[in-house]
Amino acid sequence: MTTDAQWVAGLEERARAALPSAVFDYLRQGARDEVTLDRSLTAWREVALYPRTLVDVREVDPAVTLLGRRHPAPIGVAPTTLQRAVHPEGERAMARAVAAADGVLVVSSNAGTPFADIGATGVWWWVQAYLPTERSLAEPMLRRAVAAGAAAVVLTVDTPVVGTKYPRTEQGDVVWDVVDPALLRVNFDTGYEDAPGSEKALDLGPRDIDWLRSVTGLPVVVKGVLRPEDAARATEAGAAAVWVSNHGGRQFDRAPSTAAALPGVVQAVQGRAEVYVDGGVRGGLDVLTALALGADAAFVGRPALYALHEGESGVSRLLAELVAQTVESMRLAGAVSVAATRGLDRS
Ligand SMILES: Cc1cc2nc3c(=O)[nH]c(=O)nc-3n(C[C@H](O)[C@H](O)[C@H](O)COP(=O)(O)O)c2cc1C
Repeated sequence: MTTDAQWVAGLEERARAALPSAVFDYLRQGARDEVTLDRSLTAWREVALYPRTLVDVREVDPAVTLLGRRHPAPIGVAPTTLQRAVHPEGERAMARAVAAADGVLVVSSNAGTPFADIGATGVWWWVQAYLPTERSLAEPMLRRAVAAGAAAVVLTVDTPVVGTKYPRTEQGDVVWDVVDPALLRVNFDTGYEDAPGSEKALDLGPRDIDWLRSVTGLPVVVKGVLRPEDAARATEAGAAAVWVSNHGGRQFDRAPSTAAALPGVVQAVQGRAEVYVDGGVRGGLDVLTALALGADAAFVGRPALYALHEGESGVSRLLAELVAQTVESMRLAGAVSVAATRGLDRS
């Protein structure tokens, strides 16, 4: 019999076997030599946690409040593209599974499914945005997200240019050779890509946080922060949350692991904003480690994509197993709530 933990551990290999090689490679790969990708996967394990003992752990509650809404677990799904290349139901299946778990789904602005269809699943969701040089070109997409019920906007700040990745399939084909462009960016106005100023902005600054808040009326989360002073600047510019991320090792291939960057960001933010983290989170022990280091929630990118190749039920099973592992880890660590996980890395 396959246990749920074995099922989770085998997700990547099953996705590799099931998906066209160029699609799988696109999901898995990191930028350049994959230095950051590799270290992000191992870093969570390098943190030692000192368990509390002589604690009553009969009742363990991993619930958390994120941007004013209570969720039963501190685990969210990070924004990723090409979900419809992984499963025909794509973002809809992902959304239904996250809704059933009462989690939070972050939807990529490059999604291949109309925001209205995602919102119609009843999922609690945030929209992710890259800003173009001509900011106003992003407004129609942002307005569609607001109309479809997005509860926050996540500004990705680690992508002034898309980090180079090398094809690693035997055939050397790349995803854009095999994927229908119609599976991308359906929430933008037609002709967006050809409009002057639609390339990614090279001049992002703290003022963009304010701009996004005024255009959408939503709390702004800044995703892709690794330095404490940038976290402080984002917070002072009005960010409701700072998201420690190296884009899953897909952008700057010398960036630190997020486990290494997280404590400095938590310290700089000083509780003025929420702090999230992603990158290499693969199980409940990683989630517990992120909480211990001060994160309010941990997000998963690739695991959710790999699970999606098995459809909505695959993502549901992944989320249920992550929660079960987190509860077990909290019990073993003697932490009955998210608050009680703080500082487990110090004796
Ligand atoms: C295939 C793929 C597509 C992604 N697309 C986006 C995106 O559109 N916007 C974004 O902010 N991050 C994107 N990311 C980064 C994720 O949001 C997240 O930061 C990263 O996957 C976390 O690392 P993990 O995959 O190890 O969990 C993407 C990641 C992957 C793997």
